[in-house]
Amino acid sequence: MPEFDQSKAYTEQEEVFFDDGREIELLHFVYGRADIDQIRGNPARVLQAIDEYGRTKKYLMNVGEDKGKIVTDLIAEVKPQTMVELGGYIGYSCILFGDAVRKAGGKRYYSLERNPEFGAVIGSLVHLAGLSDVVKVEIGSSDASLKRLYDEGLLKHIDLMFLDHYKPAYTTDLKLCEELKIVTPGSVLAADNVITPGNPPYLEYVRSSVAEKRKKAEQPNGESAPDARMAARSINQYAKRGESTSLGSSPGNPNLVYDSKLVNSFEPTGVPDGVEISRCVSEEKE
Ligand SMILES: C[S@@+](CC[C@H](N)C(=O)[O-])C[C@H]1O[C@@H](n2cnc3c(N)ncnc32)[C@H](O)[C@@H]1O
Repeated sequence: MPEFDQSKAYTEQEEVFFDDGREIELLHFVYGRADIDQIRGNPARVLQAIDEYGRTKKYLMNVGEDKGKIVTDLIAEVKPQTMVELGGYIGYSCILFGDAVRKAGGKRYYSLERNPEFGAVIGSLVHLAGLSDVVKVEIGSSDASLKRLYDEGLLKHIDLMFLDHYKPAYTTDLKLCEELKIVTPGSVLAADNVITPGNPPYLEYVRSSVAEKRKKAEQPNGESAPDARMAARSINQYAKRGESTSLGSSPGNPNLVYDSKLVNSFEPTGVPDGVEISRCVSEEKE
């Protein structure tokens, strides 16, 4: 694993590190720059401006350069026609990966973001980067947006999915995609933050054999102890912010086989983290 370049570190994550006005402050920072006309239509320069804010002003919960490269390399290899991200925040991953999808010949990048103010920031920066032809921002909870896009016939298959939202929803949203058959053999998943803060129930699911998943699906309450503990912790965290925390209960498709591995890397602050890359390779018949 390459070393972390300390000169590029974002400022430290504070106690309150989002939704305190910094997302709008970021827009003023970017649009107020003297070189704004050189930034327009240039995704790399928009990302540089966002990184500069994160390094010199306030922390932003972006995927960052190091983990971002793991996913852009994957995009170059997989060449997804359709890519979906769960959790867009201010649009950093959306601009980085949307640009990579377009360069790889892809058609559509859906960014699913629950918070409408963050969604508006994503839309503004995506427009600035000149990526509005490829990127579509969908506001609402990820499960509702996935279902709606599927019902409208807009989302028929997910070639690559980046999971970076509410941690207990990684597994429930993946199971929903499996049930809708928009995640099938050939789909690839990249899940952020599996080391910091970590996501044991998700790792257990994508690393389980078909036999283990079938057995668990037969249990009266298919939720494991780590699942329940994580949901309780996260529900408390979001309840404080007055946000809905409903988690779906799709059975998923336990017959799908994933080839899953961790790629170690760093948060943009330099804190160690990792991305779990899971390739859906086949489906076992019952
Ligand atoms: C870590 S941030 C995403 C960072 C972004 N992917 C990046 O790297 O630039 C997580 C985002 O997920 C959003 N979020 C949380 N739960 C969600 C849900 N159920 N559906 C959609 N978005 C959600 C939050 O509002 C937040 O903006």
